[in-house]
Amino acid sequence: MEKQFAVIGNPIKHSLSPAMHNAGYETLGINAEYQRFRVEEHCLEEAVKGLRALGFAGWNVTLPHKEAIVSFMDTLTPEAEKAGAVNTVKNQNGRLIGHNTDGKGFVRSVENDLRGLKGKKAVLLGAGGASKGIAMALAQQGMNLHILNRNPEKAKTLVQIIHSVGGTATFGEFEPGDWLENLDLLVQTTSVGLNKEPFPFSLEGIDKEALVVDIIFNPLETSFLREAKKLGCRTQNGLEMLLYQGALAWEFWLGEQAPLDAMRQALKNQLF
Ligand code: ATR
Repeated sequence: MEKQFAVIGNPIKHSLSPAMHNAGYETLGINAEYQRFRVEEHCLEEAVKGLRALGFAGWNVTLPHKEAIVSFMDTLTPEAEKAGAVNTVKNQNGRLIGHNTDGKGFVRSVENDLRGLKGKKAVLLGAGGASKGIAMALAQQGMNLHILNRNPEKAKTLVQIIHSVGGTATFGEFEPGDWLENLDLLVQTTSVGLNKEPFPFSLEGIDKEALVVDIIFNPLETSFLREAKKLGCRTQNGLEMLLYQGALAWEFWLGEQAPLDAMRQALKNQLF
């Protein structure tokens, strides 16, 4: 019988997940279909009941439902519990398991390039929802974090949360500083660049050995990444995080490895 998967969110029209997963099913000859559904906030509980009633085997959850859906799950994995958010649901004979692959997806996307993360230094720009998921996952891998946010109170709160789970983190002003001179990983998690606007400060003087990541994938190259590349750093756009969070969801649902190359190609085809 054909397995049904989906992604729910609002807006959802431009989600790249259906193309990525459907390309994967086709490559491996898996009898499955992945759809997208726009779900308004006040309809979330009904939508979850509907997906369960229709026998959907699993679904991804995106903005604005990642936190609200937690209360409709029968159980949570430790990843979802720690994040306080669910991006992947598995329907196990009517029992809904909430999971979160965002943080580990990010870790997988950078760990090969950095040849291990433990004891290395990461600077995160931004302290919103996306930053929190990434920060928690990197702290859990033993990275030392420095978090900069336009509103420093939010960076301070995130640092306190990281300390409360035994991680190492400090925070500072959202501006250039000594932090540029010695770091292994720089992650841009703010929404600056989504509308092609320039990043507010220069990375002049950055450690050329650093891997610089922007989690934005549309546009594929933000002004932030362009500058980092010009200054001699290795760069990575948001497509890799999207790919690996999807691949981990795939593995959680199907219990087998996802076809990464086919899924990456499908994502690129959608964007070009
Ligand atoms: P997300 O889930 O994508 O992280 P969010 O929780 O709304 O979304 O967080 C948005 C992040 O982008 C925040 O860190 C925000 O900084 P503030 O906390 O100071 O608002 C950051 N951000 C958005 N626009 C920005 C701008 N023009 N300059 C600097 N930071 C900006």
